[in-house]
Amino acid sequence: MSHPTAARFTLLALLGVSLSPAFADETSAGGASIGESFSIAQAEYDQALALTPDLENGRRTYLTCAVCHRPEGWGTADGTYPQIAGQSRTVIVKQLADIRARNRDNPLMYPFSLPRILGGPQQIADVAAYVAQLPMTAHNGQGPGIDLELGGPLYAEHCAKCHGERGEGNETDHIPAIAGQHYPYTMRQFDAIREGRRKNSDPKMVKQIHGFTSREQAAVLDYASRLPLPPEKLAPEGWTNPDFPAYVREPMGLPPMPTISPAPPSGMMEIPPFPSLPAYPTTTTPER
Ligand code: HEC
Ligand code: HEC
Repeated sequence: MSHPTAARFTLLALLGVSLSPAFADETSAGGASIGESFSIAQAEYDQALALTPDLENGRRTYLTCAVCHRPEGWGTADGTYPQIAGQSRTVIVKQLADIRARNRDNPLMYPFSLPRILGGPQQIADVAAYVAQLPMTAHNGQGPGIDLELGGPLYAEHCAKCHGERGEGNETDHIPAIAGQHYPYTMRQFDAIREGRRKNSDPKMVKQIHGFTSREQAAVLDYASRLPLPPEKLAPEGWTNPDFPAYVREPMGLPPMPTISPAPPSGMMEIPPFPSLPAYPTTTTPER
């Protein structure tokens, strides 16, 4: 087991941040009621999306994020860190605004989302645009692959209308793409959404998943983790992000990226054939 907090504290020290004052006086929604923190986030969302993103500044800003989400934005297959590469700009902006307004609990990332480190709506717009254009890995963490016949129909009936038939999400309505996302991460989010711990979740989704058994949850998220990504979103095999050529992946001999769950059993990668979807159209479909 590595030391999940060591890298974080070192990073905080490098950035000149001490954790407790950051929590005490920099809560952007400091002491705000839930209603207030939602309007703070909404205002920031609107502002950021009205701005023209500066990709070069987004790249510079992303250096902070790369420590956890990796330079490629692929996160970790164990789901500790989600894949954010290729996610919709609107979703990234909303999550950043929500996390710092504390509408979504993320104690690990919270200090890095604060205005003092991340900046204002312009930086949010910049980094979101940068992350959205990063190519994705198809080697995301997947489920055990044992219940896909159950998962497929559940997905079509309960999820596709919002997250899209191919798990591509919906940019206009800031619904996250879940294809390519790590299975252990989506399992954790699903729990948090169902139990009301993820305060920024969609009430309609909460209703939709209310009656799901744990077997159904695992099956539908396993299915979603195997939805094929559109070829134009995929990184070539072996790709590393050329924007960070000198990135030191283990700075100062820090332990490797923290892992929460034990490594998946080795049988996990033997995937039964995926239920076939029609081929991707060669022209890109217009946004809904
Ligand atoms: C200290 C580690 C850390 C740093 C630094 C960090 N993040 Fe995160 N981020 C996380 C973790 C952990 C989660 C998932 C939390 C959870 O499970 O709810 C997350 C979640 C997210 C999400 C939500 C993804 C989704 O699918 O909803 C976005 C977007 C995101 N981070 C973007 C960023 C950006 C942009 C930066 C840099 C400005 C950044 N993060 C810096 C750890 C970090
Ligand atoms: C009514 C629309 C709706 C339906 C139906 C719905 N979702 Fe969602 N889902 C959302 C929205 C919107 C979010 C993001 C909430 C936010 O943070 O703003 C979300 C978030 C998620 C997340 C977290 C993604 C992330 O990147 O953090 C997962 C996982 C998820 N949904 C899975 C499912 C599955 C599986 C189903 C079907 C069983 C489903 N959803 C049905 C709208 C929906």
